[in-house]
Amino acid sequence: MTQRKFFATTFKGLEEALAGEVAALGGEGVSIGTGSVSFSGNMALCYRANLWLRSANRVVMLLSEFPAPTPAALYEGAREVPWHELFPPERTIAVDATVRDSGLTHSHFAAQKTKDAVADGFRDALGRRPDVNTSSPDVRIVVRIVQDACSISLDTSGESLNRRGYRSHPTEASLKETLAAGLLLLAGWREDEPLIDPACGAGTIPIEAALIAGNIAPGSLGRSFGFQRLHGYDRKRWEALVTEARGSERRGKATRIEGSDISPEAVAGAIRNAANAKIRERIQFSARSIRNFSPGEGPGTILCNPPYGARLPGGPQVESFYRELGEALKKRCRGWTAYLLSGNPSATRFLGLKASRKFPVMNGPIDCRLLRYDLY
Ligand SMILES: C[S@@+](CC[C@H](N)C(=O)[O-])C[C@H]1O[C@@H](n2cnc3c(N)ncnc32)[C@H](O)[C@@H]1O
Repeated sequence: MTQRKFFATTFKGLEEALAGEVAALGGEGVSIGTGSVSFSGNMALCYRANLWLRSANRVVMLLSEFPAPTPAALYEGAREVPWHELFPPERTIAVDATVRDSGLTHSHFAAQKTKDAVADGFRDALGRRPDVNTSSPDVRIVVRIVQDACSISLDTSGESLNRRGYRSHPTEASLKETLAAGLLLLAGWREDEPLIDPACGAGTIPIEAALIAGNIAPGSLGRSFGFQRLHGYDRKRWEALVTEARGSERRGKATRIEGSDISPEAVAGAIRNAANAKIRERIQFSARSIRNFSPGEGPGTILCNPPYGARLPGGPQVESFYRELGEALKKRCRGWTAYLLSGNPSATRFLGLKASRKFPVMNGPIDCRLLRYDLY
């Protein structure tokens, strides 16, 4: 099978965790960029990456790299790609372009030029061209121009990989599934250790932990992928990989995984989400305030993203949350290790604890730290 170059994208701060995942899958030449990891492999690896990677948002396949200092150079470079060999003209397309420090300064214009080249390529080869659908395209084309160097790729994931398919009940402040999984990897949580999220919202962290503990492939929960809409899609190979993944699920001894939240509605949603992910029986959920949090004997890992001040106009609620969490951690969590994803440095001082490590992580536009507290 032909060797290809791929980029898996993630949240800034999770690149090393993702690189570890890619290497474990057998990716070659794994190299860390900003918010992405590049690697080489064949199409079977691409399927496996979409099936198994927990902290990746997308896996894109490189098609072409060329200098594009002008609109004409971009058009010519994009026109060289044999588009009609990649997917049929009945597929709808969208072009996502980013431009930085380049002669071309407008991403929208770069996307338009690329789309023209794709349409002209199809028309010349087949007499027909694909329609554009920007909201839910069958095929997503990714263009990146940095300092006049252009790369054109195909998105093999389609919809972002955070959409595992289980979260029918997100809360307003829910973490992306891929970020929750990446934080568990960054924290070095081991699947045989207890894991508790005492402000679990929609249950994303405990559900991702249960998927890891059960060795359940996050891409096996019923969603579709971009590569399934390309020419040469090998359905048999994909189905064999999913069957193999199901066969490797761990059903033995259950790790202690818990989620609680002050909001009974959030907990009810978390229970439904866990049921959708088919790991309901692996997690204990309860409606409880952080004020009453007492996990019992350690060791184990506590991981949560407390309410952000920015999202709660009543600032004092955030202060009291951190004070109560600080009390619980100091008095009732000896032997545990706590990790908090905080986007609010002025609130964490109310914990009254000093972090032993701080990992910078971008949660979308929010500059966060994953803070580690060793509770002796
Ligand atoms: C940022 S959200 C957590 C989102 C969650 N990780 C998810 O993916 O859905 C913070 C959560 O803290 C909960 N919360 C606020 N005050 C609380 C308290 N005193 N005790 C426990 N949970 C609390 C909120 O109900 C909210 O669900």
